[in-house]
Order: sequence, then structure tokens, then C-alpha cells
Amino acid sequence: MYLPFDWTIRSAEPEDAAAIAGILHDCWPDDTPDIERITRLIRLGQHRTSCCWAGASCAGFVDAFRTISAEGSGRWEVDLLAVHENLRGLGIGTSLVLEAIETAPPDVDLARGLVRVGNVAAGLAFAMAGFHTEGVRLTLYTAAPLASKLALEAGHIVPVETFTYSGLWLEGVPSFGVLKAARIRAAALGVRQVGILVSAEYGEVCEAAGYAAEGVFRWWMRGL
Ligand SMILES: CC(C)(COP(=O)(O)OP(=O)(O)OC[C@H]1O[C@@H](n2cnc3c(N)ncnc32)[C@H](O)[C@@H]1OP(=O)(O)O)[C@@H](O)C(=O)NCCC(=O)NCCS
Repeated sequence: MYLPFDWTIRSAEPEDAAAIAGILHDCWPDDTPDIERITRLIRLGQHRTSCCWAGASCAGFVDAFRTISAEGSGRWEVDLLAVHENLRGLGIGTSLVLEAIETAPPDVDLARGLVRVGNVAAGLAFAMAGFHTEGVRLTLYTAAPLASKLALEAGHIVPVETFTYSGLWLEGVPSFGVLKAARIRAAALGVRQVGILVSAEYGEVCEAAGYAAEGVFRWWMRGL
């Protein structure tokens, strides 16, 4: 809809993983994208990944997958959105978010994307694609797994495999015990990290449980 003439968006194939990794590296130069991991996840078919192409050149991509809320409803997580640095501001980001919506399965009620406060372009791309934000600022805290023989009740945990990591999203009101329990669960599952988004009042308990602040974000959401 917004794309420049002769550009096209297509569903990604496993062999597009190297092009996706190239865009990831362009956007986040400190990270080393794992092409095999991206290939495997595309092949598994649980993600919906779309790439924007200008001929044989990949201009950007979007990746989305399904999670389940604590209440049991399906959510469509627009997890990664990235456009090559030289090609931004042409409508590709907005078009990719719209494409991610098109690929949502029928049993999800809500699409959402997490945008760092200050990332104006990402917020605008979601807004142009019909998303809104309630403006609540949430700090992302992450922690490493914690080896322990204890198995504690860890609240609502969402296991995720994104293109960049395997981890657990911890949801709900965090207590010290729940935060620790989630780290123990992460160790048992062999994943890299636990993440939780909290309002400012929960910062201290997160830090006490061994979590570190990664930045401040807002959810952008759209009903489906
Ligand atoms: C976020 C991103 C994907 C947007 O892609 P894009 O192709 O530039 O998006 P669009 O061209 O559709 O632009 C969306 C809006 O942002 C505006 N915009 C683009 N770059 C901007 C910038 N640097 N500053 C301010 N506004 C900007 C566009 O003008 C457009 O607004 P408009 O429709 O009112 O003109 C791209 O900037 C990017 O890859 N950033 C690095 C990775 C990233 O932050 N990903 C998102 C994580 S949630």
C-alpha cells in the first residue's frame, strides 16, 4: 500500500535467513545474528516472517508469532521489525507491519509490538498501521537463568523463541519469589534469559531478584 513502485513483500523462505541476518546486523551492529537459528525458525513454520524486496535486495523484514495471555486469549506478537538504514522513511516499515497483521492466524484477538521510548520511527510505523498506545512506560528487566533444585510456582510464563534468543517472558505482578522462580525455570528449560516488563514501582524487587534494567518501552496494540 505504501511501497515504492516495483518493490514487493513476500513471505520469507528458509533460504532468506542470510538476508534477514544482514538487516538485523545493519540495525543492531553489536549483535551477531544466527543464520542457522533464523533458518530453523522459518522452517518450523510457527513464525510468520515477511521480507520486503527490491529485486534481489532485501530492504527489510518483519517477524511475528503467537503467544497466549494469562487469561487464555491469543496474541500476535509483532516481535522484530527492521528496515535497511538507507531505505528508511519510504513507507517500508509501515507496509511490513500491515503485512504482519495480514498474516495473523484467526484465533488471535490482539496484535502488539513493543517499542522503545524515543524510537519515533517505530512508533509512527505502528501508528500508521492502525496500532495505538496507552502511553504506559514499562521498564524491561532481564535476568540470567538460576540453577537450583527448587521448583517454585512462577506465575504466567510465556516461552518464546525469537530470531535473536530463546527465553521466558514473565507476566503479571512480580514478587521476589516469582521472579526467582522464573529464573530457576529458565535454567531447567535451558533458555538464555527471563524478561519482564514492569512499572517503576517494581524496579527494586526486580533488582533484588537479580534482574537488570534494559530500557523503557511502550506497547503498541491493535485489535484483530
Ligand atoms: C522502525 C523502522 C522499521 C521504520 O521503518 P521505515 O521504513 O523507516 O518506516 P516508514 O517509512 O513506514 O516510516 C514510518 C514513519 O516514521 C517516519 N520516520 C522514519 N524514519 C524516521 C526518523 N528517523 N525520525 C523520525 N521519523 C521517522 C516516517 O516519515 C513515517 O512517518 P510519516 O508516515 O508520518 O511520514 C526503521 O526505522 C528501523 O529499521 N529502525 C531500526 C530498527 C528498529 O528500531 N526497529 C523497530 C523496533 S520496535
